[in-house]
Amino acid sequence: MNYFTIDGGSPLTGDVYISGMKNSALPIIFATVLVRGRSVLENIPKITDITGALEILRRMGAEVEWLSPSSLSISTDHLKPGTSDPELVRTMRGSLYLLGAELGRAQETKIGAPGGCGFDSRPIDRHIRCFEALGAVVDAGSSGVHATVPAGKLKGTDIFFSESTVGGTVNCILAAATAEGVTTIRRAAKEPHIVDLQNYLNLCGADIRGAGTDVITVHGVRELHGCTYRILPDMIEAGTFIVAAAATGGRVTVRDMVSSHLECIFPQLREMGVGLDVYPDRVTVSSNGKLNPTSFVSEPYPGFPTDMQPQLAMLCCLSSGGISTVTEKIFKARFQYTEELKKMGANIVLNQNEARIFGTGVLYGATVKSHDLRAGAAMIIAGLAAHGRTIVLDEKECVARGYLNFAGKLRSLGARIQEEKRK
Ligand code: EPU
Repeated sequence: MNYFTIDGGSPLTGDVYISGMKNSALPIIFATVLVRGRSVLENIPKITDITGALEILRRMGAEVEWLSPSSLSISTDHLKPGTSDPELVRTMRGSLYLLGAELGRAQETKIGAPGGCGFDSRPIDRHIRCFEALGAVVDAGSSGVHATVPAGKLKGTDIFFSESTVGGTVNCILAAATAEGVTTIRRAAKEPHIVDLQNYLNLCGADIRGAGTDVITVHGVRELHGCTYRILPDMIEAGTFIVAAAATGGRVTVRDMVSSHLECIFPQLREMGVGLDVYPDRVTVSSNGKLNPTSFVSEPYPGFPTDMQPQLAMLCCLSSGGISTVTEKIFKARFQYTEELKKMGANIVLNQNEARIFGTGVLYGATVKSHDLRAGAAMIIAGLAAHGRTIVLDEKECVARGYLNFAGKLRSLGARIQEEKRK
């Protein structure tokens, strides 16, 4: 397992550069299954979820070559649909995107049960209903999913998601891109990753409109061809570094980001007293370490992102006096990490999907666990802000799934953090 040793108390200072967005790169990598010929993908973060996704496709027959540390070439011309390794599929949630991509390409899909961060039960009923609406017959169980298309070709239709789903919207776009006719997706997820997927597929010859709004229209095309595409910067990595600067009372410029993607967290940070100089592609964060309480509710984009909830809740623990209220509406059980923060002196009372945080203004070093990717990042930042030494045990190596060289980037800002492996 990985563990991080952190000596707190050094304000972060300097510039940090944001990598490509994990949650865009995953759907786009799986979307290459629909494409004939070679795609060159730029700004790909070499994190373990991405190398895992590439390994799944490579073992199925895809040709994958890294052209630089952040760009790769991928061709799936010789890939055999239905042959993914269930062990690898189980390592990540993003492998679900094989369903839509294989159905679109071969009118049949078969994958093992997908995994991912286990902070909540993660049903796939909305994905299945969407495939069924397009004409698939789906058999889903604990060992995986198998779907066929009795009519021989998926057919465009109207799809209405009763509640927003990022993964469901991605899978629907993937399945519909080469289906017959027009698919209209209502109450579609509006996250920037969906826009990124639309833009990649359209460069490959697809006809998809409306991503970023509630209604997406997909005009099915006969086939897709390769292209060169640059992935958007990772909004959650950017937000995590902004919180890290604020937590340590530092001054950091977060570069190579799209600031408008994070408008959803700026009001809370400003309310807490964090200084933010916002430019289109960078944000300078400054804080004197004195923080006010705030309250927020996680919601689908453009609401407050659930993937920033643990980091900002941790920041609320550092506020001096007052009560912050955090309501989690996407993954209602995403609060396991609060037990770890309590070991560092935080005062948090949980009531179902709501956490009331009584700001103590200070945290103390302790040995704590990283329960999942974003919670792990939050615990590391807590360690940077705490008095004394913190050890974050990252048993499942969650942090490396979503942050490229997290400890190294923090060290470049003056953090005293070491990452080591323990047997
Ligand atoms: N849901 C269902 N049925 C479904 C699908 C979703 O009930 O068929 C529920 C979920 O349980 C959840 C809500 O709907 O309560 C929203 O889930 P969504 O489908 O939007 O999430 P996801 O696609 O599984 C992606 C990201 C997550 C991120 C969420 C929300 C990937 C690979 N994962 O998950 O990212 O938290 O959207 O924005 O893109 C992370 O990066 O740390 C991470 C967990």
